[in-house]
Amino acid sequence: METKLISQAVIGRLPRYFRYLGDLKDAGVERISSQELSEIMKVTASQIRQDFNNFGGFGQQGYGYNVEYLYKEIGKILGMDQVHNLVIIGAGNLGSALANYMNFERRGFIFRGMFDKNPDLIGKEVRGIRILPMEELERFVREKDIDIAVLTIPKAGAVEVAERLVQNGIRAIWNFAHVDLNVPKGIQVENVHLSDSLMKLSYKINRYMQENGSTAGSAGERKA
Ligand code: NAI
Repeated sequence: METKLISQAVIGRLPRYFRYLGDLKDAGVERISSQELSEIMKVTASQIRQDFNNFGGFGQQGYGYNVEYLYKEIGKILGMDQVHNLVIIGAGNLGSALANYMNFERRGFIFRGMFDKNPDLIGKEVRGIRILPMEELERFVREKDIDIAVLTIPKAGAVEVAERLVQNGIRAIWNFAHVDLNVPKGIQVENVHLSDSLMKLSYKINRYMQENGSTAGSAGERKA
C-alpha cells in the first residue's frame, strides 16, 4: 500500500471505523455503502470517502465496500494484525483496572508483566499477572520483547521510569501520568487524560445550556 503523509485527524478516526466495522462483521454484514456507514457512524459519507481515499479508497465497487476486507485493511494500517507485548508500571487502581480488562487482548495487546515500587504489592497477582519489583524492569523488557509500556504511576516518578524504559528498547509509551514525557525521536507516546474528556463534556453541557436556556437538567453550580 502506498505510504503518504496522513493527517492526525484521519488517523484519529481510524480506530472508530475499525470498531464499527468489527461490529458489522460480527453481525454478518458483508457489504456496506459509504452512505449506510455514514448513517451508523454519524459522519458524512463524503468524509468517509475522503478518509478512505488516503489509503487508495479500499476498492469500493458496485454496491459499497466489502466489510471483511475493509476491516482487515484498516486493521493492518492500525497494526492490529500484530501482537504487542505490554508491561504496566504502577499496579494501583488504574494499572489493575487496565490489567483486568480482557478486551485489549482480543486486539492483540498482551499484558506480560506488572511492576511497582511498593514492596507490599510484589508477588501479588492481577488476573494471573504477577507484580514484579522495579529492579527487574530492565531485564524483563529486554528479554520478553516488550514494545509498549503503560505508565500508571504519579507524575513524580514518570520521567525517570520512561527514561529507563527507553534505554531498554521500549518502542511506545501509553502515558496516563499527568506529565509530558520528553522522549527521543522514534519513541511513540500516547497521552491519555480522562479528565480532559470530562472537561470536554462539561464544556458541552455549558454550551448547550447557554444556547437553550439553563433549564435542561439542573446540574447546579459547584460550591467552592
Ligand atoms: P494508585 O495510588 O492506586 O496507584 C499508583 C501505583 O503506582 C502505586 O501502587 C504505587 O506504589 C506505584 N508507584 C508510584 N510511583 C512509582 C514508581 N516511581 N515506580 C513504580 N511504581 C510506582 O493510583 P491510581 O489511581 O492507580 O492512579 C495512578 C496515577 O495515574 C495517578 O498519578 C493518577 O494521577 C493518574 N491517573 C491518570 C488518569 C488519566 O486519565 N490520565 C486517570 C486516573 C489516574
